[in-house]
Amino acid sequence: MSEQIGNLTFGIIKPDAVRAGKTGAIIQRITDGGFRIRAMKLIRMTREEAEGFYAVHRERPFFAGLVEFMSSAPCVVLALERDGAVKAWRDLMGATDPAKADAGTIRKEFAASIGENAVHGSDSEENARIEIAYFFSQLELVNSE
Ligand code: CMP
Repeated sequence: MSEQIGNLTFGIIKPDAVRAGKTGAIIQRITDGGFRIRAMKLIRMTREEAEGFYAVHRERPFFAGLVEFMSSAPCVVLALERDGAVKAWRDLMGATDPAKADAGTIRKEFAASIGENAVHGSDSEENARIEIAYFFSQLELVNSE
């Protein structure tokens, strides 16, 4: 993960969307959006893994519920590559609160609430690097060229 990091972002298809059978539809949106999938796996986060991933939100009132939700069922973690990947993935996801998400975004179509909002995306290149490394080893980042 060196010179290409500016083109990578990290995503999660969250438990609500996996449970609802929307994994395939969301992956289709991702590939239609011009992303190359560099790594992808289905995982079931432990409570401790969810707490670690969302540690930045530890003091927020929604933290306990967020950890409970994210460890409640399987999710799909992704390393996504594209020009301007961080912003492009956030644009494709839509606003955190699906009620405020633009038409045509993943959250508008698939999310039920701000807490169960179908997908996660990194908010910066630095966090993308941290979040990819949290779930994937260097060896798991597939190079297709
Ligand atoms: P995500 O992008 O995964 O990062 C933090 C998550 O906290 C966010 O998506 C929301 O799903 C979740 N969350 C739950 N409640 C709130 C809230 N009131 N405000 C912001 N985020 C919330």
